[in-house]
Amino acid sequence: MSTTRTRQYSPSASSSQTLAPLARTVAIFGAGRVGTALARSLVAAGYDVRVVGSGPPSGIALIIDVLAPGAVAMAARDAVHGADVVILAVPLHKVDTVAPELLRGKVVVDVMNYWEPVDGRLADFADGDPTTQVVSTRFAGAEMVKAFNHIGYHEIETDRRESGHHERRALAVAGDSRAAVELVLEMVHRIGFDAVDGGGLAQSGALEAGGPVFGVRLSRPALERHLAFDGEPTH
Ligand SMILES: NC(=O)c1ccc[n+]([C@@H]2O[C@H](COP(=O)([O-])OP(=O)(O)OC[C@H]3O[C@@H](n4cnc5c(N)ncnc54)[C@H](OP(=O)(O)O)[C@@H]3O)[C@@H](O)[C@H]2O)c1
Repeated sequence: MSTTRTRQYSPSASSSQTLAPLARTVAIFGAGRVGTALARSLVAAGYDVRVVGSGPPSGIALIIDVLAPGAVAMAARDAVHGADVVILAVPLHKVDTVAPELLRGKVVVDVMNYWEPVDGRLADFADGDPTTQVVSTRFAGAEMVKAFNHIGYHEIETDRRESGHHERRALAVAGDSRAAVELVLEMVHRIGFDAVDGGGLAQSGALEAGGPVFGVRLSRPALERHLAFDGEPTH
């Protein structure tokens, strides 16, 4: 008989916000809408944040100074060196411009969505497999995690709330590595959202465009209800 369940991130009794974070340094690829919103939120949450653009750091230095003060524009190779987590916030049709060897051995958060009007038709992503599962095949040796894709970039700042606030919104984190998922669940919590385990990458289709939670403000119980999958999470 199969059981239906999700797991949730439970900060320690004294609240993990008062303890050193599991991850400290985050490199973000993409200085666009999501990349800069996440950079601001992560700086506010106490992370060391590096941002990588499509060209040299000088091309985004002013943008980062103005839109994400406290974050630092860096070249890709320097940014990933020593980073605990790397976030991919580039358009999906540009994903192959990120060199796979840079992400080997890293926990990588994929925030990308497949939007045919923006990305054009991408055969690999059009056949129904969850986007992040397909992205993970491009980055051998990276621990790929899906998060922040089902919230609008502007809501990352307007919707964050303190832990325990009655309006606190929940966001899901999916991935095949339990340790990588834990790292990102904590990051979601520290930024200001209830963090819900969304299962493995094969189970992450529910988070995508057209899925039941995409772009919807949900509390933790509501998100858990929507994501309830049969059996155990596949990580
Ligand atoms: N907008 C949202 O509310 C939202 C929410 C959740 C998820 N998403 C997803 O997140 C992804 C990014 O969306 P966005 O709205 O932030 O897009 P965006 O505003 O167009 O920003 C994308 C940025 O990525 C940069 N870029 C391209 N290739 C790069 C590379 N190899 N290395 C580093 N940077 C690179 C682009 O630089 P150039 O302009 O120089 O090419 C651009 O600054 C998309 O897949 C989107 O579907 C969006």
